[in-house]
Amino acid sequence: MNRIAVLASGGDAPGMNACIRAVVRAASVRSAQVLGVWDGYNGLVDERLQPLSARDVANMLQRGGSMIGSGRSAAFLRPEVREGCVDYLRTEGIEGLVVIGGEGSLQGAQELHRLGMPTVTVPGTIDNDMPGTDITIGADTAIHTAIGAIDRIRDTASAHHRAIIVEVMGRHCGYIAVMAGLATGAEIILTPERPTDLGRVLEEMEVVFARGKRHCIIVLAEGAPWPAAELTRLINDSPTPFEARYTVLGYVQRGGSPTPFDRILATRMGVKAADALLDGRSGVLVAWKDGQVQVRDADHLEPRADPWADDLPSVHLVTNL
Ligand code: F6P
Repeated sequence: MNRIAVLASGGDAPGMNACIRAVVRAASVRSAQVLGVWDGYNGLVDERLQPLSARDVANMLQRGGSMIGSGRSAAFLRPEVREGCVDYLRTEGIEGLVVIGGEGSLQGAQELHRLGMPTVTVPGTIDNDMPGTDITIGADTAIHTAIGAIDRIRDTASAHHRAIIVEVMGRHCGYIAVMAGLATGAEIILTPERPTDLGRVLEEMEVVFARGKRHCIIVLAEGAPWPAAELTRLINDSPTPFEARYTVLGYVQRGGSPTPFDRILATRMGVKAADALLDGRSGVLVAWKDGQVQVRDADHLEPRADPWADDLPSVHLVTNL
């Protein structure tokens, strides 16, 4: 194999550029050429490739976003379109593809693998919601960003004696909420994995007030039962000791320079992905498991773990006294 392609797909995640850089440079060490596909699977559908040399990826390690774009493609969901994409890659002399993205991107890569185009997927999403890997590229940076914002919000919450609901991303996964909540000493953390009802939230707010706290930070995962605006309204319509406000952190969590952890993870995973592809592997996920970067059969991955590890609820209770 001496000509491969790389694409970034789904929501961008800090560290995608570091991974693209590592793929290009690891392949170039083995004298293989790399082409970047623009805007995720969209660039396969409408045929947009760009050669990437080791120099082209210079100065990318520390940058957020994706130098070859990213995106979601509705057209790519159609089987006949995917067959056309494989034909296009073959016409361009491309023998394999590295896909950096989340679970939907992994499914897309597996479809191409089944059509005979070798693929290796690297987990890249801030949500950390993928099966088979303990961590995804971008999650650590997103948590850092959320923590910085919540620390500031807490100053205001305290000064005004308020409850502030901070909605973080994560799609159906509460990982960012749990980690950012623990790291900021949030009084309440609401996730899709451990749903609760409004009565419990209000009770908890009473307890927080009774302990003499001047603020009540509620970190709310976007997949939890209520959006931030609705929860704020419900709280303010109830007799509570704190007046509520909310902030939705949104895309601020997706951008920005990757943390050292994400730079290193992305670099290690990118090298592993290029090597696996050039060694003839296909239909695999590069994963972080048991403290190591591993190449795993993507058709046999265990579901992702609940982000609330067993000890975390009691850790949260104790640290929020
Ligand atoms: O998957 C990353 C993510 O940011 C999720 O946390 C969020 O639900 C979704 O993407 C938002 O997607 P879009 O970019 O389409 O608004």
